[in-house]
Amino acid sequence: MSDFLDLCKQRQSCRGFSERPVEHDKLVQCVEAGRLTHSGCNAQPWSFVVVETPELAGQVAQCGQQLKQNSWLGTAKAFIIVLEEHAVLSPIISCFLDSQYYAKGDLGAAAAYICLEAAAQGLGSCIIGLYDRKKICELLNIPAEKQFGAVIALGYASNDAIRSKKRKAFEDIVRFM
Ligand SMILES: Cc1cc2nc3c(=O)[nH]c(=O)nc-3n(C[C@H](O)[C@H](O)[C@H](O)COP(=O)(O)O)c2cc1C
Repeated sequence: MSDFLDLCKQRQSCRGFSERPVEHDKLVQCVEAGRLTHSGCNAQPWSFVVVETPELAGQVAQCGQQLKQNSWLGTAKAFIIVLEEHAVLSPIISCFLDSQYYAKGDLGAAAAYICLEAAAQGLGSCIIGLYDRKKICELLNIPAEKQFGAVIALGYASNDAIRSKKRKAFEDIVRFM
């Protein structure tokens, strides 16, 4: 198995972080992985906000606990928020497609790269699906209309055990032709 597939197995959504703070340099590496992600027409329709101060991280965590979801989120030591930016597509492509046509996929890829780099650095991560976008915008001085690609919680896992992956069977979802 390749080192990369090993990393894919190691990366898992972490739902409980230890008290250990996350080193600034490791967050830089994670966001650098996001920056290096491929994108449609190389438009790079993203920017990143890294939250690392404990007080702010605690406030972002509260924004991700709507409907009493994600009760563990207060243990996260940092967050990376992937923001959607305007994509400038190549002139030929932009005759056919809306500028943001590839953006959602690009942002998802950037979020995945960040989580995989976090795993490579020994960090736990979890993408958060439900959050109060407006409150996060207010808190972090992000323009109110800005769309989010992902909110990613980070920290050192309080439990390092690797779970087995629950995934659809390979033969049910793959066709070689
Ligand atoms: C877009 C997205 C939103 C998610 N939202 C949450 C969430 O709000 N809370 C949570 O605990 N996990 C969340 N997850 C994690 C998924 O539940 C997890 O990726 C999936 O169950 C597979 O498990 P694994 O990441 O451990 O391999 C989210 C994942 C993605 C990609």
